Amino acid sequence: MNRIFLDNAATTPIDPEVLTAMVEVMQSTFGNPSSIHAEGRKARSLIEAARKTVANALNCSIGEIFFTSGGTEANNMALKNAVRDLGVKRIISSPLEHHCVLHSLEAIAATGAAEVEMVNIDERGHVDLADLRRRLEEQSADTLVSLMHSNNEIGNLLPLQEVADLCGEFGVYFHCDTVQTMGYFPIDLEKTRVSFLSGSAHKFYGPKGVGFVYINNDNHIKPYLDGGAQERNMRGGTENVYGIVGLAKALERAVEEREERRNQMESVKQYMMERLREVYPEVRFNGDPCRSHYKVLSVSFPESPKGDLLLMNLDLAGISASGGSACSSGIDVGSHVVGHLHPDSKRHTIRFSFSHHNTREQVDYVVEKLAAML
Ligand SMILES: Cc1ncc(COP(=O)(O)O)c(C=O)c1O
Repeated sequence: MNRIFLDNAATTPIDPEVLTAMVEVMQSTFGNPSSIHAEGRKARSLIEAARKTVANALNCSIGEIFFTSGGTEANNMALKNAVRDLGVKRIISSPLEHHCVLHSLEAIAATGAAEVEMVNIDERGHVDLADLRRRLEEQSADTLVSLMHSNNEIGNLLPLQEVADLCGEFGVYFHCDTVQTMGYFPIDLEKTRVSFLSGSAHKFYGPKGVGFVYINNDNHIKPYLDGGAQERNMRGGTENVYGIVGLAKALERAVEEREERRNQMESVKQYMMERLREVYPEVRFNGDPCRSHYKVLSVSFPESPKGDLLLMNLDLAGISASGGSACSSGIDVGSHVVGHLHPDSKRHTIRFSFSHHNTREQVDYVVEKLAAML
């Protein structure tokens, strides 16, 4: 049997159509997009076409999309520029954010430029929206709310429209880390008022090392990377032309095939939950599987001596999964998200995350292998 890849929240395999589009550009277009001659203009036109594709997918204007090296840079740029250029002095976030947000917030707090506070999280891992409202009622001046759309470890979904409306009501900035949902859920920025969003191509079957940040036109920021005039002066450095073309193609395909892919992933996730419950009545699904991303399923099993090397044994059996986020997989540090929700529980936790390539037959194989390991 071929290997079974169930770690698609960490990254996804590149879509063959994306690869073809990228190779074509690598072969035909080597110009520097900042050059004014024909080679340069050709590269520039590819980048601008890609920007249009991304803007169309989000229903925003092309001037609001800035290409970056990925989700980490996009989130850093949004948060740090908001503090430096927009006068943000207070950030409300959550302890369940991705490390690129949490560590950016630590860095901001360490400079004393802004204060950071954490909203309450309920027992299922959702943001307590009443607590968020209370905090905004208390104070809303110079405030930014930073909350992720889907948690990368447990999959929980934020009610994006509701939070955007709440931030709108109080006139505060809203940054949403949409790295796990970009291409998977429709986002219409005409309807949903957000100040900053982030995207990363390798999470939606595109290449690694390329992403983008959406910055609402009302927010005038200064350069994030000092250098040339690339990305309308905001991010110096010769653009990753092939990566940007791949990102746009991958996003276009993700939007086109969204329902088909979603149905497949939903059915596989549902089936895995049923099979796991059958075989392990004591299994726990972390977070709230009823309001979570259809690609993520975080599972905890009661502790057993045999389970200590679970991930390694799964790997040896040809199954790739993760213990938490990719940053911690393979290292026994546990997940800060599951740890926050279940601080005292001693269980073996695995994050399975699906793609539309996964099947029910694969789930049967995984459950059968797991049965021998626990
Ligand atoms: C929610 C979330 N935000 C940000 C990132 C970082 O994205 P990138 O790998 O493109 O830097 C990830 C990747 O794991 C993620 O899951």
